Amino acid sequence: MKAVEIKPGIYWVGVKDWNLREFHGYSTSRGSTYNAYLIMDEKVTLIDGVKAPFTDLMMQKIASVVDPAKIDVVICNHVEMDHSGALPAVMKTAKNATMYCPAAGERGLGLHYDTSSWKIQTVKTGDTLNIGKHTLAFTLMPMVHWPDSMMTYMADEKILFPNDAFGQHYASDEIFDDENLDVIMDEAKKYYGNIVMPYGAQVQKVLEAASALDIQTIAPSHGVIWRKHIPEIVAKYVKWSAYGHDDDRAVVVYGSMWGSTEQMARVVASAWGEKGLKVKICSLKHSQSSDVINDIVEAKYVAFGSPTLNSGILPTMSAFVSYMKGLAFKNKTAFCFGSYGWKKGVMSEVEDVVKGLGWEVPEPCVSINYRPTAEALAELKSAAERVIK
Ligand code: FEO
Repeated sequence: MKAVEIKPGIYWVGVKDWNLREFHGYSTSRGSTYNAYLIMDEKVTLIDGVKAPFTDLMMQKIASVVDPAKIDVVICNHVEMDHSGALPAVMKTAKNATMYCPAAGERGLGLHYDTSSWKIQTVKTGDTLNIGKHTLAFTLMPMVHWPDSMMTYMADEKILFPNDAFGQHYASDEIFDDENLDVIMDEAKKYYGNIVMPYGAQVQKVLEAASALDIQTIAPSHGVIWRKHIPEIVAKYVKWSAYGHDDDRAVVVYGSMWGSTEQMARVVASAWGEKGLKVKICSLKHSQSSDVINDIVEAKYVAFGSPTLNSGILPTMSAFVSYMKGLAFKNKTAFCFGSYGWKKGVMSEVEDVVKGLGWEVPEPCVSINYRPTAEALAELKSAAERVIK
């Protein structure tokens, strides 16, 4: 296993997790990567690590360039275990290494591992570290993705190491963003929607700090390294962090028991399509929540449909809405519908959530008793049309 030189003396020593299909509730159909970077300078420097089961693989890659015992500096941009899992082995092997991380990182590492023998130097925004030819500059970016997150910038090579920011859960045979931009952008959107979405204000601070830097390469901790399409991904982060959407994009997400709510979902989608919207229909029986979230990221309109089950909504819808609530989507317009037998009005559970998120709900929920009649569907269609401004 060999390291890949991405710039003179700077190596990718990460790993590709081709088989990953789940990441704390996020379906990762294309696997993921854990990117770590080795800098050969007067002080041999490692930026971030990999998930614990891949420690040996990362060590082999480091060893293809230098004896891991000779690592002098370890930068921990983020404590989460997909990046820090290998660090106990690194610190045990590189006995003279000093780790640099924010104070929140030192705290977090101490709560995950026995760090009693580690040399840890805490850093804050504006601090720099000279490692020989290169100097590293640190900027704390709390909550992108955890309180301890920070980014590291190397001015002379114009590389930003922003850890989770700008990442994608994506394993491919590529290291860079030179090909398959549509797929990479879609994975970056899915990653933003499912991981970063709650932290728009914090992302905007990162973008502001990054705008002062001359950046030719963005080397995140997941997915491909950006070098060809930096303006495109930065523009997307500007849009997503401001909760921007496309006015002509909509999602109809639903669950159904015996087909009535499904029939209603198709009527809503058709009504919106006839109004000129691009509409995606997502059945929660067949779609992963994190894929639906990906579709919602850039949608202005979201319709939710569920029949009554017992005295509530379907558990699939309940789980989906709970997940979506945690991601704190803002600035959207919702419409609710569903069929019922003998208990009406259960979609108020969803309405309450989206109203709590500050979404517009211009029309009351449409409920249809048992099977939809042509007349009831016509009324549903009219209500759906009124939602669109
Ligand atoms: Fe990729 Fe927040 O860890």
